[in-house]
Order: sequence, then C-alpha cells, then structure tokens
Amino acid sequence: MQLHFSPSMKSITISSSNGFIDLMKIKVAARHISYRTLFHTILILAFLLPFVFILTALVTLEGVNKCSSFDCLGRRLGPRLLGRVDDSGRLVNDFYKVLNQVGTDEIPDGLKLPESFSQLVSEMKNNKYNAKDFALILKGMMERSEREIRESKFSELMNKHFAASSIPKGIHCLSLRLTDEYSSNAHARRQLPSPELLPSLSNNSYYHFILSTDNILAAAVVVTSTVQSFLKPEKVVFHVITDKKTYAGMHSWFALNPISPAIVEVKGVHQFDWLTRENVPVLEAVENHNGIRNYYHGNHIAGANLSETTPRTFASKLQARSPKYISLLNHLRIYLPELFPNLDKVVFLDDDVVVQRDLSPLWEIDLGGKVNGAVETCNGEDEWNLKSNLAMWKLGTLPPALIAFKGHVKAIDPSWHMLGLGYQNQTNIESVRNAAVIHYNGQSKPWLQIGFEHLRPFWTKYVNYSNDFIRNCHILE
Ligand SMILES: *[C@@H]1O[C@H](CO)[C@@H](O)[C@H](O)[C@H]1NC(C)=O
Ligand SMILES: *[C@@H]1O[C@H](CO)[C@@H](O)[C@H](O)[C@H]1NC(C)=O
Ligand SMILES: *[C@@H]1O[C@H](CO)[C@@H](O)[C@H](O)[C@H]1NC(C)=O
Ligand SMILES: *[C@@H]1O[C@H](CO)[C@@H](O)[C@H](O)[C@H]1NC(C)=O
Repeated sequence: MQLHFSPSMKSITISSSNGFIDLMKIKVAARHISYRTLFHTILILAFLLPFVFILTALVTLEGVNKCSSFDCLGRRLGPRLLGRVDDSGRLVNDFYKVLNQVGTDEIPDGLKLPESFSQLVSEMKNNKYNAKDFALILKGMMERSEREIRESKFSELMNKHFAASSIPKGIHCLSLRLTDEYSSNAHARRQLPSPELLPSLSNNSYYHFILSTDNILAAAVVVTSTVQSFLKPEKVVFHVITDKKTYAGMHSWFALNPISPAIVEVKGVHQFDWLTRENVPVLEAVENHNGIRNYYHGNHIAGANLSETTPRTFASKLQARSPKYISLLNHLRIYLPELFPNLDKVVFLDDDVVVQRDLSPLWEIDLGGKVNGAVETCNGEDEWNLKSNLAMWKLGTLPPALIAFKGHVKAIDPSWHMLGLGYQNQTNIESVRNAAVIHYNGQSKPWLQIGFEHLRPFWTKYVNYSNDFIRNCHILE
C-alpha cells in the first residue's frame, strides 16, 4: 500500500499490492486549482486509505488489535511524507498534525456519523467542515467499522465452532443405514474377527493399533490407510472402540468391508467391564454437572466479555471448550493399559489422521521406560488449553491425555507426524505428501464442508466411493 506524490504535484498515485485498489491515479493540475481544493482532495484520499487498511485488516485480523487503522493511517502517512519542503509536504504535514491531534480525542457523544462514504461526500458538499471536524468524523467512522469487523469476526468464529462440532448429514446417514443393516443382515452381525483369529487379539507378535471414535467414515479411512501403507498388513490388528449408539453401525461396516489380511475388532465402551463410574469420573461429571455441560455445549458468546478479548484468544477459548473434551471416547487413551492388559505396546491413532507410510518402525523405538510415546505438540496454545480446562480438574474429573502423560512422554521424531492440517491453509503440500502420518487436528476436518479443499484429497483417497452405503448417503458429493 503506497501513496506517491509526484514532486511537481501533478499527480497522486495510490497503488496497492494486494489487489484491492490496483492503481488509482488522480491527476491534479496544480496550477489551476486552489490550495483549498487540493487540501480536500488529499482529505478524501486519506479517507480512502483507511478503507484499504480495513480491508487488509479483515484478511489479517490481528492487525486490528496491534494499531487501530486510524493510528496506522497517521503513522503511514507520516514517515513517508514528512520532511518534504514543497507545498505538498507542508500540506500533508498539516493534515498529519490534525490526525495526530484527534488521534487522542474522544469522539463526542451525539456526533452524527455518515452511514457510508457517499453520504460523507454529499455531507461534505453541503456543510463546510474544518479539518478537525472532518478528521473526527473520519475517526468515528473508522472506529465504528473496526467495531463491526471485530463483532463479525467473533460471530464467524462462533459459527465455525458450531460447524466443526456438528455431524454432517452424510455421515449421520451412513451411521443410521449401517445400524439398520446390523439388525436386518446376518452378515453384518458376523463375529469380528472370525473365531480362528481371536487369539491374535492379545498376541504381542502382532502390531496393535487402537482407534477410538464414533465416526464410521473416519474410522474406515484410518484403518484403510494404515493397512494399505503397512509392509506386513497380515500382522496388523486394529482395535476400534466406539460408543454404544455407534456400535452396531461400526460393526456392520467392518463386517461388510473386511480389510484383509489385517484383523479388525470392534468394541463398544459398554463392553468393557472396567469402564465404570468409579474408575472413570468423567462419565459422572458429564451426566451430572450442568455446569460442565454448559461449559462445553453452551452459548459461548453470551458469557464472554468481547471487549476484553482478541479474536485469537476467543478462538482458542472456543477450541478448549470443544465438546470432544468431555467425550469418553477422547479420554479412553488414558485407560489403555487397563483396557488392554495383555498388550505390551500399542499405537493409538486419532480418528482425524491418515497414515501414509509403514508404521512398523514405531514398535522398534525404545521408549526408555516412559509409558507413552508421542510427538511433542505442546506449544503456547496447548498450555492455554490446559489452563482453561481447570474447571474439569476442580471437579475431580480427568484431564486430557496431554496432562496425564506430562513428564512421562518420550518424544518421537516429528517427521513421523505432521500436525495442523485442520488449522491452517498454508500447509506445504510437499511436506504433507511426505509425512508418515498427517493429522487434521483443528476445526477444518476433511469430512466437513469447512475442510480445506486442497488438503482433502489426501483423505478422500481412502474413501471407497463405489461402496453402496457411501454412494447412497451422498458423502462429500
Ligand atoms: C503369536 O503369533 C505368532 C505368529 O503369528 C505365533 O507363532 C505364536 O505362536 C503366537 N503366540 C501365541 C501365544 O499365540
Ligand atoms: C467488559 O470489559 C470492559 C473493559 O474492561 C468493562 O468496561 C466492561 O464493563 C465489561 N463488561 C462486562 C459486561 O463485564
Ligand atoms: C487455501 O489455499 C488455497 C491455495 O493456497 C486456496 O486455493 C484456497 O482458496 C484457500 N482456502 C481458504 C479457505 O483460505
Ligand atoms: C470398494 O467397495 C466395493 C463395493 O463394496 C468393493 O467391491 C471394493 O473391493 C472396495 N474397494 C476397496 C479398495 O476396498
């Protein structure tokens, strides 16, 4: 964004590199116009500039917090143009002073602000504003736009939060149809795995994976991608854990779509005797504490003081309140040793990953006595999340796995795991292609409409679109 005055004052050019105003050239024939007209021209130009700043601010919203666009205007006008000695320099210098002066003034109550730029222009024609009044109106209008931008940013975050925690129709359909199939089709009810393979479920010479989810499509992608990438798929055992309502559908899926030669077991949380209220306090907390339910499912904007919050903090607050944090399925990883007492080493996979390489070398990593191997993901924002989960701590419920394993985690080389595909769009496609495991952590899951289009194919590649259930439910069409 640049403002050029040609030395002879014959033209003023605004150019912008980001395409909002490509090249606006305003010719001013210096000899034929009065100083006063010129002054107005510059005021209008100055007024256009902040709109460009605001548009830019929309894109990089953090800019709004760092300096209000009004201050930015002064700052940007200042250094570039001060120090000139010709008329234009003095002119801008004067205007800069006025801007600075009102920069610290409060907008008087009752100051009538034009609704739009064209209204401002027509009011300028009718009333003779002095420079100071004009600058005040300018400031008022800009502050109003900034407020509106902030508010709409918060609503956008809120809507995205709801979009991220909802279940898409196609996935819901898949679950219902497969559940129906479970009751009507004996093949969908067949024992998983078949009886002769049962001993392998607790045989430590196999590679055991655990996946805990209520999303059948996501489970299918994780299992398919892992098995297809594995060098010895016949040695893979998948333990898929799901909740009671999804059990029948999940079982149907893997009964009807065996991923041989790998072995798949499907279990519902209701089938583990160990998962009782005494052992798992989170179960009780979720059922009995309204406070907890509201904290994770409530209207997050109502209780928040938005004037004290930046969009970024609000976003991470929302994230920390994701309903997944009170889902038992999300807490299961803490109890793996109790749930699978016979297994020495397991790899726990989240349901939003895609495995792209053979994972057997993970079993060779010496964990050095630590209970859990994980790629270190703890950063500033996670720390924040931990703090915001204090409510859970206080109620004596279980903290997220991240805390439970704090200090007991052995870091695994990050090349194993590429994180953040659900957060940021600027992911390097080449790195995505090369990572052993890609993780769509964040809101933009590949099965949601808000998923990032260019990252989705790495996931949909493992969705079998010729499957009748997938086709009939119009998944991601
Ligand atoms: C585990 O599986 C291996 C190879 O499939 C087999 O040789 C071994 O006997 C099994 N062990 C047990 C305890 O069943
Ligand atoms: C929100 O915070 C601002 C600034 O600290 C304060 O003036 C205002 O009273 C607060 N509003 C509510 C509803 O708490
Ligand atoms: C993400 O980036 C890609 C290419 O870099 C672009 O085509 C797409 O529109 C972006 N999507 C969003 C939601 O920003
Ligand atoms: C996809 O589904 C069809 C129909 O159910 C099945 O015949 C085919 O083997 C599946 N393909 C893969 C790669 O699983």
